[in-house]
Amino acid sequence: MTVEPGVEELRELVAEFQPNRGHVMPALHKVQEKYGFIPRPAFEVIARQLNSTPALIFGAATFYSDYRLHAPPETEIAWCCGPACRVLGGQRVLDAIQDELGIGFDEHTEGDRLGLHVGQCNGTCHEAPQVWVNGKVRGNLTPESARELVRELKAAGE
Ligand code: FES
Repeated sequence: MTVEPGVEELRELVAEFQPNRGHVMPALHKVQEKYGFIPRPAFEVIARQLNSTPALIFGAATFYSDYRLHAPPETEIAWCCGPACRVLGGQRVLDAIQDELGIGFDEHTEGDRLGLHVGQCNGTCHEAPQVWVNGKVRGNLTPESARELVRELKAAGE
């Protein structure tokens, strides 16, 4: 379970940034670098620091896909949505994974243990269909081996 940082801690973290200097993105980056995502109280803290509004800071964070608004899972499964993976049965692999996990895209299992996200082809198509588990390729999947993989990942966290 992720514990959100306190306001004081966030204030100290972004204290170096100044209004009207294009510091919104650097402040968001710094917060994400420290916590792995942008915790909710950070919008208010950054807004005060930069003499802006939480809505504007939130807008910047949601506009760019680099920023996460939720804590990352302990183990992230990224399903490749690329053409080679799809042609070679990627959809059936995805169905098996989602069924085994009991969650959809951008959701996490209990306690943020496992998360499922869409990944983009990274050129390792010779191992299609595939997923990345915390960035590491698990390829040549079948629906059965994908189920087995998920069971293995679930068991690893018990
Ligand atoms: S299409 Fe999936 S790795 Fe290239």
